[in-house]
Amino acid sequence: MWFSILLFILSVFVILNILLAIVHYSTKGRKYWLLKKVPYQEPCPIFGNFGPMFIMRRSYTSMLKYFYNKYRTEKFVGIFQARRPTLMVIDLDIVKNVLSKEFSNFSDRVSVSTDTRREPLLRNLANMSGAEWKAMRQIVTPTFSSAKMKAMFPLIADCAQSLKNTLLKEPTDEVDIPKLMVRFTTDVIGSCAFGVDPRSLQDPDSPFLLMASKMFRTDRATILKRYCRTFFPRLFKLLNLRSYSADVEAFFTTIIRQVLTERRNTGVQRHDFLQLMLNVQESDTAFSMTDELITSNSFIFMLAGLETSSTTLSFCLYELAKDRDLQDRIREEIVDCLDRHGGALTYEAVASMRLTLQTVTETLRMHPPTPLTTRLCTAPCTLTGTDLKIKVKDPILIPLQCIQRDPSYFPDPHRFDPDRFQDDLNPPGFIAFGDGPRSCPGARFAQLTAVAGLAAMLSTFTLEPCARTTPSIQYDPRSVMLKNKGGIWLSFKPLETNT
Ligand code: HEM
Repeated sequence: MWFSILLFILSVFVILNILLAIVHYSTKGRKYWLLKKVPYQEPCPIFGNFGPMFIMRRSYTSMLKYFYNKYRTEKFVGIFQARRPTLMVIDLDIVKNVLSKEFSNFSDRVSVSTDTRREPLLRNLANMSGAEWKAMRQIVTPTFSSAKMKAMFPLIADCAQSLKNTLLKEPTDEVDIPKLMVRFTTDVIGSCAFGVDPRSLQDPDSPFLLMASKMFRTDRATILKRYCRTFFPRLFKLLNLRSYSADVEAFFTTIIRQVLTERRNTGVQRHDFLQLMLNVQESDTAFSMTDELITSNSFIFMLAGLETSSTTLSFCLYELAKDRDLQDRIREEIVDCLDRHGGALTYEAVASMRLTLQTVTETLRMHPPTPLTTRLCTAPCTLTGTDLKIKVKDPILIPLQCIQRDPSYFPDPHRFDPDRFQDDLNPPGFIAFGDGPRSCPGARFAQLTAVAGLAAMLSTFTLEPCARTTPSIQYDPRSVMLKNKGGIWLSFKPLETNT
């Protein structure tokens, strides 16, 4: 009897202690922003300020929008991403300081994973830090120079021609635009980064396309896995989860290995990113460009370039289908520029399509496919113009889309108006490609791809809404990257048959 009572008391004691430990663990640090005198919103245990996102009631970006609008008059707001305090910067001058002027204090990004032994493909430019990032960036930046882009352009033009041929062959009354645009950008990136022809436009079941699509899945399990990686990285590792499935990793690693072997055996050279990295490997530089690094960086080009470019084109086509006057103005420009360059889709013709580029830029302003970026403090400092001290490894979040939709930088911000970029294609509030030394190196490449794709489509077809076109854009709450909830469906009509 006494023994049972003792056992009961002991069990209650243990359970209470466990509960206390859980409460302590999940609420520890909740006064972090209060003590720093930074405005913040009281977090809930475990999920911090992002509870509604975990139950998929709100998207990550709509949560950021909520904080941005609520604290718009502040310079920054303290948020809790699960238990991790993160400084979300609101003031554009501070954003510019963090990204550019004070870059030496914020030279890293919050990496998705630092466990590159377990996931070697993640040892890439976007994920690297410190001296390794600097050395790799110095190698990658010249591969995106104007001269290299010009030399590479025929590869993009071939894919644009292939896009046009596909539209001439396939039914075009009700086109699943993101699906078609992914086929186009998969071919562009496959050709320019990997040196292979994925044949996605010719064959919607192409193995390359299927594997690429697997990388960008938005099913519930994949989304939860990504949230776990971002918010609970230790749990992610403990559960032995991987960012990309083993078959995706094996597929792309094998392809790049085959291309490298072929180039070495045949000596054939191509104007693609892989060749440029291979040239670095063969030249006499201090940086050791291993096959592993060529592989992981070709992979990041695909990861960073494929979906971003296809999403941009998809939103752009949606806006053009809704605004026939603008569409006609752009078509006129495209036809005129092509005529002036002998009817061919050359680099020079595409570079002269100013209104088309403004339209791509306006699409990126309203619907930036990467709606936020991050930085990690790498040297202790005080944020200029404030008293706030930042210590090493403190994470900073920059809400790119919120800034681009702020009326102080872009009047009437929810109106699609490419003319706002007439005088300046890069005003201070436009940060869809980030800013500073760590901004997107592929920006020009992405612009060329988008303008070439638009030129190929609009010179041959008119674009119209169809029965499945949604009346407006509503972002899908399941995706961090911006996507329309009902998809984007449009109709293409060949120009000759128009009345
Ligand atoms: C419309 C298309 C694209 C958009 C909107 C976009 C946007 C971005 C943004 C916002 C960043 C973060 C910048 C920062 O933190 O300041 C970034 C980084 C990056 N992007 Fe892009 N990107 C696009 C296309 C591409 C393409 C086509 C490539 C390569 C072929 C590419 C390669 C990269 C890489 C490697 C990084 C990491 C750079 C570093 O950490 O040094 N992106 N991109």
